[in-house]
Amino acid sequence: MAYRDVYEAWQKDPEGFWMRAAEAIDWVTPPSKALFAEKAPLYEWFCDAEVNTCWNAVDRHVEAGRGDQLAIIHVSPITHSRKGITYAELQKRVASLAGALRAKGVEKGDRVIIYMPMVPEALEAMLACARLGAIHSVVFGGFAAHELAVRIDDAKPKAIIAASCGLEPGRVVHYKPLLDKAIEVAAHKPGFCVIFQREQEVAQLTEGRDFAWHTFQYGVEPAECVPVRGDHPAYILYTSGTTGQPKGVIRATAGHLVALNWTMKAIYNIDAGDVFWAASDVGWVVGHSYICYGPLIAGATTIVYEGKPVGTPDAGAFWRVLQNQKVKALFTAPTALRAIKREDPEGKLIDEYNLRHFDALYLAGERADPDTVKWAQRHLRVPVVDHWWQTETGWAIAANPLGIEELPTKIGSPSVPMPGYDVQVLDEGGHPVPPGTLGAIVVKLPLPPGTLPGLWNAEARFRKSYLDHFPGYYETGDAGYIDADGYLYIMARTDDVINVAGHRLSTGAMEEVLAGHPDVAECAVIGVADALKGQQPLGFLCLNKGATRAPADVVKDCVKLVRDQIGPVAAFKLACVVDRLPKTRSGKILRATMVKIADGETYKTPATIDDPAILDEIAVALGKLGLPAA
Ligand code: COA
Ligand code: AMP
Repeated sequence: MAYRDVYEAWQKDPEGFWMRAAEAIDWVTPPSKALFAEKAPLYEWFCDAEVNTCWNAVDRHVEAGRGDQLAIIHVSPITHSRKGITYAELQKRVASLAGALRAKGVEKGDRVIIYMPMVPEALEAMLACARLGAIHSVVFGGFAAHELAVRIDDAKPKAIIAASCGLEPGRVVHYKPLLDKAIEVAAHKPGFCVIFQREQEVAQLTEGRDFAWHTFQYGVEPAECVPVRGDHPAYILYTSGTTGQPKGVIRATAGHLVALNWTMKAIYNIDAGDVFWAASDVGWVVGHSYICYGPLIAGATTIVYEGKPVGTPDAGAFWRVLQNQKVKALFTAPTALRAIKREDPEGKLIDEYNLRHFDALYLAGERADPDTVKWAQRHLRVPVVDHWWQTETGWAIAANPLGIEELPTKIGSPSVPMPGYDVQVLDEGGHPVPPGTLGAIVVKLPLPPGTLPGLWNAEARFRKSYLDHFPGYYETGDAGYIDADGYLYIMARTDDVINVAGHRLSTGAMEEVLAGHPDVAECAVIGVADALKGQQPLGFLCLNKGATRAPADVVKDCVKLVRDQIGPVAAFKLACVVDRLPKTRSGKILRATMVKIADGETYKTPATIDDPAILDEIAVALGKLGLPAA
C-alpha cells in the first residue's frame, strides 16, 4: 500500500482505521468503539476498553516466546559499561518493583514522580507504575529543585522514585540533595521515596521517608498487571508553556498503546526483534514514546544510552553504538548531528564502523536545517527522515512513513501529515491560506489516539492554550506553510517557547526567575540563533534606580539564578543590562524585533513602537555581546 492509500483510508473511515489498528493490542475488554465525542471539543479514544500498558509492553512478549530476547540494552560510555535485560528479566524486575510499591500503598490512579538519569531502572519504574495503573510523571534530570517542586505540587505524588545521582561528562549530578530540596520547598509531601543507589555516588537516605531500591523490594509479592479503563491517564508529562507554570500533558492509556504500536511499523519500519535507538532522555516525550513504550510495545529491543554525541569519548560514539548493538533505526535531534559534524566535518569516523544493520535516521525536536540533513544523507547513505511532533501529540504529526512507503524527501520539510492528522494552515482570522502561504499550523479536531485529551487538573488552560483561538481546531503553536504537493514546512513558534538543543523552554519562565532578582525592575528573555543549539536564551535586564550591585554582577547573579531555579538545561548564559525595553504604545515588549536585531535580520520598526530610539540602544547592547554573530 502507498502512503496516499493509507491516508485516504483513514480520511474515509477514521474510526474504522483506528479500530483496525487496535486489533494489534491485547485487551482485557476490547473497546466497543473508537471515538467518544460526547464532550466535544474534548475527545477520548477507546474509553470503555480495559487494558494494561505493562502487559502489552512486557508480559505479552514473554508469553509469545520472546522471553530470551533483549528488551533493553543499556549503553553507557560514561561508566564504560554495557548491560542487556531480556523481556523475561524485565518482567520479573518490573513485577517486583510494582509489588513493593503496592505494599507501600501505591494503587491505580496514584501519581508517582520519577527523577532518574538514563539507566534501565528509569524504564522499570515507568513500567512498574503502568503495571499498577499508577500515573507516572517523569522529571528530566537537568531540571533544578524548584522545577521539581512545581511538578510535585501539581501532580501531588504518593511516591517519588529517584536515583542517587546522574552522570554528565566530567560532573556528577547530585540528584538526592536536589530531591530533598524540592520536597522541602513543595507544599505537597510524598508519602515515601525510593532511591536507586548508583555506585558512582551513594546518597544519604532520610530515615522513615526514603527506601533503597533493592531492600525496598526484599520479600515482596510480585504484582500482576492491573486492568485500567482506556481513558485512564498512563502518565503526565510536564512541558513548557508561556508562563513559569508548566503544562501537565495527560496521555490516555488505550490511545497511547494503539497509536505507538501503529507508528513503530508505519513510520519507523520496526518489527519485533529489531533494535531501535532513540538518543534522547526519558525525561522528554521522545524518551516516553520511543525509548520506553513504543519499541517495547512492538517487541523490539530499545537502547538506553547514557552519553553524549560528542566527548563520550569522541564524535564516533553514535556510530559505535549503531555497529555494536546492530541498531536498525536511530532517532535523534539535529543538534546532536551538528555537534558531531562540527568535530568530524568529513564524517571520517563514520567510515570506521560497519553500519550494515542501520536502515534509517529520524530527526525531530527542532527544525532540521538543510546543511545538517545533507551532511547526514551524504555520510550515512540511508534515508534521513525529518518528522514533526510535540509533547502534546506524543507521536509524529508529519513524517515520511518508511514502513508504508518511502516518499521523495524535500529538505527543510518534515514531509506529509500522518493518518489521524488533518493539518491546515490558517490566517489570524481563522481562514485557510493558499499553498505556500505562512500561517498558524492547526489540526482539525478530533486529534488522533495517543494525543493529549487534556491537561492535568487544568481544563480551562487546556481550552485556552489549544482550542479557543481557532474553534474546531487544535492550535499547535507552530507557524509554517504547506506546499502545493502537501508537504509541511515548520518555520517558527507563535508563542514564547524557544528550542535550545532540542529542549523546549519557556522564556516566560526565565523572565519570572530574573524578575525575582532584587535589583531587576523589568526584563525580557528572547531566543537568539545559535549555530550548535539552534537557539539560545538571552536576557535583557533593566535595573531599579539605586540598584546596589554593579550591572556586571547582576548579570552574573541572574545567570546563576536561572541555573539554580530552572536548571542547567536552560543553558542561560547570556544577559545584558539596558536602560529601557522597546515596547508598543500599549506596553507590549517587542520581543520579535529584538530577535531580528540579535540575529542580524532586516526588520521594520513597528508602527506601534513607543520610542524607536530604544532599538538603537538594544543594538548597541547586543553588539557588546558580539551579536549578531558573523
Ligand atoms: N542532568 C543534568 N544536567 C544535564 C542533563 C541531565 N540529564 N542534560 C543536560 N544537562 C546539563 C549539561 O551538563 C549542561 O550543563 P553545563 O552548563 O554545566 O555544561 C547543560 O545541561 C546544557 O546541556 P545541553 O544543552 O545538552 O548542552 P551540552 O553543551 O552539554 O551538549 C549537545 C550539547 C549538542 C551535545 C547536547 O545538547 C545534545 O546531545 N543534544 C541533543 C538533544 C536531545 O537529544 N534532545 C532531546 C529532544 S529529542
Ligand atoms: P517538544 O514538545 O519538546 O517535543 O517540542 C515540540 C516543538 O519542537 C514543536 O512544537 C516545534 O516547535 C519543535 N519541533 C519538533 N520537531 C520539529 C521538526 N521536525 N521541525 C521543526 N520543529 C520541530
